[in-house]
Amino acid sequence: MIIENKVKNVQKIIKKNKCNGKEICLIPTMGSLHKGHFFLIEEALKKSGEIWVSIFVNPTQFNDLDDYKNYPKSINDDINKIKVLSDKICIFSPSLKEMYPNDVKHDTFNFGYIDSIMEGEFRSNHFNGVATIVSKLFEIFKPDFTFFGEKDFQQALIIKKIINKTFKKTKLIICNTVREKNGLAISSRNQLLSEKKFIKSAIIYKMLVFAKDNIGKISMQKLKKIIYSNINKLPGFELEYLDFRDTNYLKKVTNLNSNENIRVFICVIVDGVRLIDNIKLK
Ligand code: PAF
Repeated sequence: MIIENKVKNVQKIIKKNKCNGKEICLIPTMGSLHKGHFFLIEEALKKSGEIWVSIFVNPTQFNDLDDYKNYPKSINDDINKIKVLSDKICIFSPSLKEMYPNDVKHDTFNFGYIDSIMEGEFRSNHFNGVATIVSKLFEIFKPDFTFFGEKDFQQALIIKKIINKTFKKTKLIICNTVREKNGLAISSRNQLLSEKKFIKSAIIYKMLVFAKDNIGKISMQKLKKIIYSNINKLPGFELEYLDFRDTNYLKKVTNLNSNENIRVFICVIVDGVRLIDNIKLK
């Protein structure tokens, strides 16, 4: 199993393998690997290429220092989990200095409207940070395929923009959200919840399904009112946003009966832990 932490070494390996006609699959992660990541890896294993999982908790995408410090980190565990899946998977686990040799600063991108809403609105410069690290990784790996989860749908659209502008040869594969038995979207942050709050957080997916089941039966205003009230009445729960948006540009939808493809997006803060989710309504 290859485990590398130096950019130069990775580039050497990639160059050699590309010359031998191997395709490169890249799965960028911040570690604390869970079933959601394993699903991305399984999708990558369906391709014939060489699979690289990068593990790096990227400070420039956190706008809150405590959130960065509290973000779960477990590199040895992660390596062992990957070994169990397949010893053919390569790991890139760089140091902070390796990824940010000079200043630990994000670059500034212009993603326009898509960066001004939802996660972009509530976490200033979050997507600049994500785009900075993902661009660095794409630069190193020049991947043929890269895999991202649908749970972070807005992030996936940002990645699409980066690819369309700068890394046109890379193919973005967006994989379905993997859920806990109670419906909660799997995320590294779930382990920061108490057992009680983990169980109660099932309300988030339940409310998304409620919206899907009642589209066309209840007005959007009423749907929103019911969902806000069901979530905010739980102690420690605070609904940050609940938006109905079109799938392509994330423009707000005002009429749920329109012909557009619509998704509902939600963010709930549970005892300070930020949980996001979304599902396709139609
Ligand atoms: O989705 C994530 O885990 C991170 O935002 C990513 C894409 C690995 C960049 O740090």
